[in-house]
Amino acid sequence: MTPRAAVVCGLGSWLPPRAVTNDELARELDTSDDWIRTRTGIGARHILDDGLATSDLAVEAGARALKSASDIAVDAVVLATATPDHPLPATAPRVAARLGLGPVPAFDVAAVCTGFLYGLATAAGFIAAGSADSVLVIGADAFSRILDPADRSTRAIFGDGAGAVVLRAGRPDEPGALGPVRLGSDGSADHLIQVPSGGSRDPLRPATAGQGDPYFRMAGQAVFRHAVESMAESSEQALHDAGWTVKDVDLLVAHQANVRIMHALADWMGLDRERCAIHLDRVGNTSAASVPLALADAVASGTLRPGHRVLMTAFGGGLTWGACTLRWPAVEAY
Ligand code: ACO
Repeated sequence: MTPRAAVVCGLGSWLPPRAVTNDELARELDTSDDWIRTRTGIGARHILDDGLATSDLAVEAGARALKSASDIAVDAVVLATATPDHPLPATAPRVAARLGLGPVPAFDVAAVCTGFLYGLATAAGFIAAGSADSVLVIGADAFSRILDPADRSTRAIFGDGAGAVVLRAGRPDEPGALGPVRLGSDGSADHLIQVPSGGSRDPLRPATAGQGDPYFRMAGQAVFRHAVESMAESSEQALHDAGWTVKDVDLLVAHQANVRIMHALADWMGLDRERCAIHLDRVGNTSAASVPLALADAVASGTLRPGHRVLMTAFGGGLTWGACTLRWPAVEAY
């Protein structure tokens, strides 16, 4: 019997309307457009208005992905996020309810910037096992909520946004079928990307107000090296699974963390830099939303067309990483 593959049949994305340019940031922090562009490739990022939360981003992107999938009934919702609305419960059930999806299983996946690929792997597993015929996978993050207002090194990089795909059961040889998702982690380096306080190790309590560190921290240079190595390794595994070589890749959709990381990855793999999808110049690093947002942008610009061979890869806190291939299907992005 042919195994059930997970096939992409819908794509949606959403960015909060408020864009903050580098020059605007430089009015508030000791930084400059030149520093941010030269070191990261980022020109602007979108920031969620006060009063809104990650579920608002996720609902917008999820609704668009469902429309792109001709409103197919989905059997499960997987939400990749590191910035849930609340520490508890998960945000996915609220998103499923607001989308009117009924009592479907809905849960969050926490793998920071690799979350979307972990979400795809989880959904593909549901489909392969016969637990679901179709799954909505959303990557949504509102990093603006966890950044230290005084930290120029993180505020320059991160932005808010959401992207989503609908996966349905199909054949492994169909356009849109995901190849095996190659994932990895190294918890011995978890300190490199962390929100130090507010979890069970160092709870934030009224009695200890003013102590602890509730903000996102990242050791940028150490992360840079890990990012290139682990994305290259998992990408090579994913290409091997698909029977492709690097020459077969039409578009590399890598986590949009830093244009220098993407170029270093392309150089390492022997891939033409022109084949890197670049979206971070307008949105920065949107964590779990990064890969689906870059896919949607590439479809909208005509860079990604049906039949193209796509390699997706990401890296993030945990540390975590992953990669996966697919041949792009004929779907409209909303
Ligand atoms: N403007 C001006 N100066 C700055 C800024 C800024 N926005 N940010 C940092 N600097 C300064 C630092 O303070 C430091 O100054 P010092 O030498 O006086 O101490 C100097 O620039 C150099 O700092 P570095 O951190 O060494 O700068 P680097 O060139 O490494 O760039 C960056 C920093 C952009 C963060 C880079 O290291 C990077 O992209 N790392 C990878 C991040 C990544 O891939 N993350 C993915 C996962 S994220 C996730 O999972 C949520």
